[in-house]
Amino acid sequence: METLKSARKEDSGETGSDLSEQIKAATKENHVRAENTQLMLSYQKGQITLPQYKVLLCSLYEIYKALEEELDRNSSHPAVAPIYFPQELARLESIERDLEYFFGPNWRNQVIVPAATHRYEQRLRKIGKEKPELLVSHAYTRYLGDLSGGQVLGKITQKSLGLSSKEGLSFFSFPGVSSPNRFKQLYRSRMNSVELTEEARAAVLEEAVAAFELNIQVFDDLQKMLSITSETDQSNGHSANTRFSGYPI
Ligand code: HEM
Repeated sequence: METLKSARKEDSGETGSDLSEQIKAATKENHVRAENTQLMLSYQKGQITLPQYKVLLCSLYEIYKALEEELDRNSSHPAVAPIYFPQELARLESIERDLEYFFGPNWRNQVIVPAATHRYEQRLRKIGKEKPELLVSHAYTRYLGDLSGGQVLGKITQKSLGLSSKEGLSFFSFPGVSSPNRFKQLYRSRMNSVELTEEARAAVLEEAVAAFELNIQVFDDLQKMLSITSETDQSNGHSANTRFSGYPI
């Protein structure tokens, strides 16, 4: 009976009362916009270059550092505890390994991020301090994305950058998650178990839209940053878009 009911709901495009369904519906349009940023379009065409990937990793580093520090600090908050899965999901150390692979041992001095990444980080720090329940929106946006389209992007990255092994690709690999689809189901059921007042639920949905927008702004800023470096390099007779150019970005 339950199966039939949910099938009908999916067919009609109706959204149920579960937070996982509402958050997906609320961010549907933003997801389409994120997929259609120039950076994500290059990705889908298999045209991601090393400079693009390196600047993206730098921003992901700052974003996950803020997200995971705030999740850790709030891990026993009633809204955060059910969706707190550091063993399975934490990305910071994987990103650090990838940065070391691409930039070398002094990678820490070479992490450059645009203004939009700082704004994203600041937002995460602020809600971690003032409204930890909104971390649910940010964790959803990043981790469920990484376990969905992110898995395909990992394969594309390997191919586009001509990487022969898994080295440099730790970000995409979740050794603690044997089935991304089953894990996503568990994650959704944990999200649905979070008790929220109507007001807090509306704020969580609104924050998820903001989280997608922050990601879009980061992608757009990165693209701008790259076109500037690429123009400067071209005027010097070099192209920053050359694969394995050896440029810091
Ligand atoms: C889910 C593709 C970019 C966040 C998905 C799904 C696909 C996908 C195929 C699974 C849909 C489903 O199970 O119904 C892509 C592609 C992208 C991209 C091809 C870009 C090239 C992004 C970005 C974000 C994101 C940039 C956020 C920063 C999510 C989230 C989900 C998701 C949160 C889970 C939706 C849910 O089941 O509630 N994506 N995505 N995606 N994606 Fe993306």
